[in-house]
Amino acid sequence: MNQATKNQERIFLKFPDRDAASKFAAEIFCTAYRKFEKLLFGTATGQTPVKIYEHFIEMMNTIVGSENDLIFRQLDNYISPDSSEDNLPFYSYQTELKNSVWKVPHLDAHVPHEWVSPDAEVGRYITIIEATNKWASYFIQLLGIGDKDGHIAFNMPGDAFDSTVHVVDLNQETIEANANKFFGGDTTKVPKQAITSGIGDILKANAIIMAGFGKAKADIMHRSFFGEVTTDVPASALQTHDGVLFVILDEDSASTIVEKEGESVFTNPEDLDIWESL
Ligand code: PGA
Repeated sequence: MNQATKNQERIFLKFPDRDAASKFAAEIFCTAYRKFEKLLFGTATGQTPVKIYEHFIEMMNTIVGSENDLIFRQLDNYISPDSSEDNLPFYSYQTELKNSVWKVPHLDAHVPHEWVSPDAEVGRYITIIEATNKWASYFIQLLGIGDKDGHIAFNMPGDAFDSTVHVVDLNQETIEANANKFFGGDTTKVPKQAITSGIGDILKANAIIMAGFGKAKADIMHRSFFGEVTTDVPASALQTHDGVLFVILDEDSASTIVEKEGESVFTNPEDLDIWESL
């Protein structure tokens, strides 16, 4: 990446609902695509990004005349040697994004998915991360957050802030949460391991967009950005990020920040010049 990273800047944005918030997040990604010749878009898994991707695809297909290039690079994935790629809930995001953003001259997408040996896949993905970081003129990373413990990607409490790609054994709480979200409540269908980019990989982004909606995320959003920086709360690592951080919330997920810090921490979205802030 040759774009000089701006010094630390944190922008908190609050929207009436998830759809308005997702649309604004998508607008940030599209603006980054228009502004930077070679955009690396770090995609996240989970439910939070779904609407952001929908708006992003819609907006991207209205952009005319850009010659800029785009690479999607997914943060994490389940390790699931018995499933075909298409059966995994997170694989299809990338396929859909890649297939839908059809006007981009050079387009690529990367997902951890080769399960012959998880260790070999860790090595392969580290190589991809290094090569795509080098390729990009700007790296923008989307993140969701774990409701209870503030995990980002599959980086769990206790993980070092300088970590890179690694294999994770999922704890029972994560297995149950993911069973409810993606596997019809059946914990036996949830893979027991995942591969994830490390917090160190995430912190290399020029810009990070942290999105989280709903009441369940309210306390952890406050703790992550206004509490102690500690490996007990992985998302608190973002307080050390040397670049621009957008925290995109709805009324519910913003409620603890509003209660404890007041309205003044929020930037009015209408006053934000996205192009300038990147
Ligand atoms: P969610 O998951 O977007 O489905 O809430 C976020 C996470 O657990 O990282």
